[in-house]
Amino acid sequence: MECVCLPNGITLPIIGFGPGIEEYSPKCIRRRTGILSIPGRAYNKLIRRPICSKKYANAISEAIRTGYRLIDYSAAYGNGSLIAKGIKNSGVHREDLILTTRVSNRAQFAGPDAVKKEFFSQLKGMNTDYIDIFMFHWPVTGCYEKTWQTMVELYREGYVKVLGVANCHEHHLEKLFSLTEERPLINQFEIHPLFTQKKLIDFCRKNNIQPEAYTPVARFDDRLVRLPVLHKIADKYNKTVLQVVLRWHVQNKIIPVVRAMSPSHQKENFDIFDFQLSREEMQIIDRINLNSRLRYDPDNCDFTIL
Ligand SMILES: NC(=O)c1ccc[n+]([C@@H]2O[C@H](COP(=O)([O-])OP(=O)(O)OC[C@H]3O[C@@H](n4cnc5c(N)ncnc54)[C@H](OP(=O)(O)O)[C@@H]3O)[C@@H](O)[C@H]2O)c1
Repeated sequence: MECVCLPNGITLPIIGFGPGIEEYSPKCIRRRTGILSIPGRAYNKLIRRPICSKKYANAISEAIRTGYRLIDYSAAYGNGSLIAKGIKNSGVHREDLILTTRVSNRAQFAGPDAVKKEFFSQLKGMNTDYIDIFMFHWPVTGCYEKTWQTMVELYREGYVKVLGVANCHEHHLEKLFSLTEERPLINQFEIHPLFTQKKLIDFCRKNNIQPEAYTPVARFDDRLVRLPVLHKIADKYNKTVLQVVLRWHVQNKIIPVVRAMSPSHQKENFDIFDFQLSREEMQIIDRINLNSRLRYDPDNCDFTIL
């Protein structure tokens, strides 16, 4: 598989798999039902549906068997135990995977001790003693600088191989550059043909920061998947529109972190290494840009709900 090399010599696969939020986590139930406090036992007995956990862990195993080696996760999604289960059942050794996790906003609000506590509980949940890529999930205003310094401590203690960030604009990154000698080597943010983020990508490149794309297929947005121009390119290579979109990311040397719970989608998304878009086709896709953000703008959002 194609790879990218970070300035510290670590190589990363050019495509990642992100299972996203565990569908029936307490947080998710709380959000959906508005019930604020569900005692753990009652939650497990009454609400958690083992089949959903099973489906989630199976999706991870399937993705790994398909060939994905970069697994994207966050403390905001759960405790990571289903990731551990998925890895175990995949038959692939943990050392052969690149595991990402992120600091939740909740821990950031609570301060550095909570960030550390959450980190160690992620290690426990994921059944590992190190994390390959450690990020914060959002640059929470008034908190992210301290969070970064805490992350640097964990990195210097040897628990983390690569420090990264997510959802950072240029001004957040510039602030981080002024805080410690360590610089983020990855910035994960929303990128897809409806929102190409050229300026931020250029800034990252100039500063040796590898861009990672989340929501890389725009969550199957109609405005993208129905575009005749993409269908024309897809037909030419006997590929699907999403394969063309993912190929566009890869040829731009951007790591798409794609979510697909369906094994057939996982396979389809991974089957993008046997064709090459021409320069002209790349430019056609660049021009689709509508500057349309599907997720949140870190300069204008309520971090308490993310
Ligand atoms: N740092 C952050 O703030 C942040 C924010 C958002 C996301 N992320 C990360 O990025 C990952 C992906 O982002 P995302 O879930 O927002 O968006 P996405 O990957 O663009 O879209 C996921 C959706 O597209 C569908 N899909 C995927 N491949 C498909 C295919 N070949 N054909 C048809 N449908 C397909 C999936 O369906 P099925 O599941 O049914 O297969 C799923 O509903 C997340 O899981 C997470 O790891 C990070």
